[in-house]
Amino acid sequence: MKLKKIGYILLVILVGVSLLATGCSSKPAQQPAAPSGEKVIKIGLITPLTGDVKTFGESSKNGFMLALEQAGMKAGDYKIEFVIADDRNDATEAVNVADKLIKQDKVQCIVGSVTSKATIPISEVTNAAKVVQISNTATNPKVTVDNGKRKEFVFRACFIDPFQGKVGAKFALETLKAKTAAVMFDQGNDYTKGLAEQFKINFEAGGGKVVAYEAYAQNDTDFSAVLTNIAKQNVEVLYLPDYYQKVSLIGKQARDKGIKATFLGGDGWDSNEIDWVAMEGGYFTNHYNSGDTRPEVQKWVNEYKAKYNAVPDALATLAYDATNLLINAIKTANSNEPDKIRAAMQNTKDFAAVSGKTSFDADGNSVKAAAILQIKDKKQIFVTTVAP
Ligand code: PHE
Repeated sequence: MKLKKIGYILLVILVGVSLLATGCSSKPAQQPAAPSGEKVIKIGLITPLTGDVKTFGESSKNGFMLALEQAGMKAGDYKIEFVIADDRNDATEAVNVADKLIKQDKVQCIVGSVTSKATIPISEVTNAAKVVQISNTATNPKVTVDNGKRKEFVFRACFIDPFQGKVGAKFALETLKAKTAAVMFDQGNDYTKGLAEQFKINFEAGGGKVVAYEAYAQNDTDFSAVLTNIAKQNVEVLYLPDYYQKVSLIGKQARDKGIKATFLGGDGWDSNEIDWVAMEGGYFTNHYNSGDTRPEVQKWVNEYKAKYNAVPDALATLAYDATNLLINAIKTANSNEPDKIRAAMQNTKDFAAVSGKTSFDADGNSVKAAAILQIKDKKQIFVTTVAP
C-alpha cells in the first residue's frame, strides 16, 4: 500500500516534469515557423484598446491595419507578421506588454504607443533591448530623450509638446486676444504637466498672465474648489491639456459654475466621445485636419471611410503614417535587423506622410505643422495651420 502510494507520487512528479520540459521548449503560440527561405519581419503594435482612452487605441489599430494591408503585408522582400497588444493606457501594463512582445513574440519593431504616459516607460524597454520603436502620437520630449541623452532606437511620427504648447499660447494671445488664462493639469501625467508648463511659459513670454495654475490627480472627479476660485478671477481662457474624458468632466463643471472663459487644449481632445455640448466653442491643437485639401489627405480620408465607415481622426492618421514610415525604413534597410532599420529610419528625408512631409531631427522627432480645430455643432471645424 505504502509502496504503491510512493510509486504514484513519483509518477505524478515525472509526468509533471516532462510536461514542464516540453512546455519550456515549445515556441510561443503566435510565432509560427516561417517556411524555409522566407524572410520575415515581425512588428508589434502597442495601443490602449481598453481603459480611459480606448477610442485612441481603436483608431490607432485601424490606421496600423490599413497601412499593413495596403502594403500587401510586405516590406520589400520581407513578409510582415504582426502582434497587437493592449496597454490600457497604464504605465505598468505598457512595460509588461512591451516585454512580452520583445521576449516572447520576438518582434524586431514596435509601433506605439499612443500616450506619453504609456510610451515613456515602453521606450526604456525598447531602447535597452535595441528594438526599433516609432510612436504615432506620444508628444512629451521624454519619449525619445532621457536627461539629455537620445534613445537611439526610438522615434515618433508627431511633433512634441514644447511646440504644441507654444502654438496654443500664441493662438490665445494673437487670435483670441486673451490677456489672462487659468491652467489645470494632471500632475501625475508627463503629457498634461508638460503641456501646461509650455503653455504658461509661452503665454507669459508673450505678455499674458496665468492667474491660476492648478494641479489635480488622475482619479479626481470633483473640481469645484479649484473652479470656484477660477470663476472669481474672470479669466478669458481656461487651458485644459488632458485627454477627452477628463476635459469633458472639467469643462462641464466649469460651465456649471458660470465660467465663461474660452476653453483651449491639446491633441488629447481628439475623440468622438468628447462632451460636445460642454466643450462647444473650445479650440485645440492637433496633428492633422481631415478637411485638408492636399490630395494625399483626401485619398487617405476616402480610403479610411471606405473601410471603416468613419472619418479618420489624428490617432488613426498618425498610426498610418508611423507604420508607413517603419515599412519604408525596413525596405530601405532591406533587412530585418533592428540596428539597420534604425539607421534607415533616422535618415528618412521628406517622406510623404498624410500628416505632412516627414524627416526626423537629431532626437528622433518629426518636425511638422500643427492644426488648430474648434468644437462646433458636434463637429471639429478647421481653424488654421501653424508651421514650426
Ligand atoms: N499627445 C498625447 C500624449 O502624448 C496623446 C494623443 C495624441 C492624444 C493625439 C490624442 C491625440 O499623451
